[in-house]
Amino acid sequence: MARSKVYVSSNEVPDKAIQVLRSIADVRINPKDGPPARDVLLKEVEDVDGLFCLLTERIDAELMDRAKKLKVVANMAVGYDNINVDEATRRGIIVGNTPGVLTETTADTAFALMLAVARRIVEADNYVRAGKWVVPWTPMMMVGSDVYGKTLGIYGLGRIGLAIARRAKGFNMRLIYYDVIRNEKAEKEMGIEYLPFEDVLRQCDFLSIHVPLLPETRHSVGQKQFALMKKTAFVINNARGPIIDEPALIKALQEKRIAGVGLDVFWHEPIEKNSPLLKMNNVVILPHISSGSIETRIAMAVLAAENIVAALKGEVPPALVNKEVLKRKS
Ligand code: GLV
Repeated sequence: MARSKVYVSSNEVPDKAIQVLRSIADVRINPKDGPPARDVLLKEVEDVDGLFCLLTERIDAELMDRAKKLKVVANMAVGYDNINVDEATRRGIIVGNTPGVLTETTADTAFALMLAVARRIVEADNYVRAGKWVVPWTPMMMVGSDVYGKTLGIYGLGRIGLAIARRAKGFNMRLIYYDVIRNEKAEKEMGIEYLPFEDVLRQCDFLSIHVPLLPETRHSVGQKQFALMKKTAFVINNARGPIIDEPALIKALQEKRIAGVGLDVFWHEPIEKNSPLLKMNNVVILPHISSGSIETRIAMAVLAAENIVAALKGEVPPALVNKEVLKRKS
């Protein structure tokens, strides 16, 4: 029987994952740095059984029309808003993602953003490098806000939200959350309180966003929500950029309606060069690196590869997004 064919859209995918794919398939890797151009991707998928892709690739009906043999798409990410999953399911194409392996690393980054923005870490570092540190110590030089003992509002209490809550307990924070699904077990075990979203917004000192990007969550943190928050509150987003209404965020910061923001995700990635956010000292900006530890990126790549291998062997992938596709197949 002919070996399966897999296309890998990035030449940065760790070798350990490529070896996993090679155990079962002939692997073609995008030789260029960065994501493949759309026309290149559409051509590359024409003869493949498996596609290993990143969140930078749009996996839609047009692509599926071209990929006549495609059986499995594995996103090297936990979020999969770049994939039209319904369309894939309709066509019997398996979709995999990488949950679990990136939870702790992503929560570390959210917490790092929280500490960095509240304690002005990046701003202070820039201050020193710019030669502005001229008096050894003054009572009010670069003072920020405490994190310890404050109220953390978690928007989305999934795996990553819970991992943030665990960290926050070590900081003696009061924990409140909103999610469409209540987690009463976590409420009891972690002493975390469920509140309507408006009350989370009103009461929190930090709002940390951990919901997936869905039609219902798109722009769900906007003008109305910022207006409810304390003027001293900070917002952290390392989920997906469009969950926040970015122009409304910029306005809220300009009008000092909130104290600051730590962001790893944006409407446009890379962030537009003329974004007003780049000029604000109370904004900490990362280039979408929340899961970016070497250990986690290797684990994500291997899990994505294992999703492809399992699917091509006719087995259930370890991280399957569209379980309904199995019913279609049986
Ligand atoms: C990264 O943003 C991911 O969804 O894993």
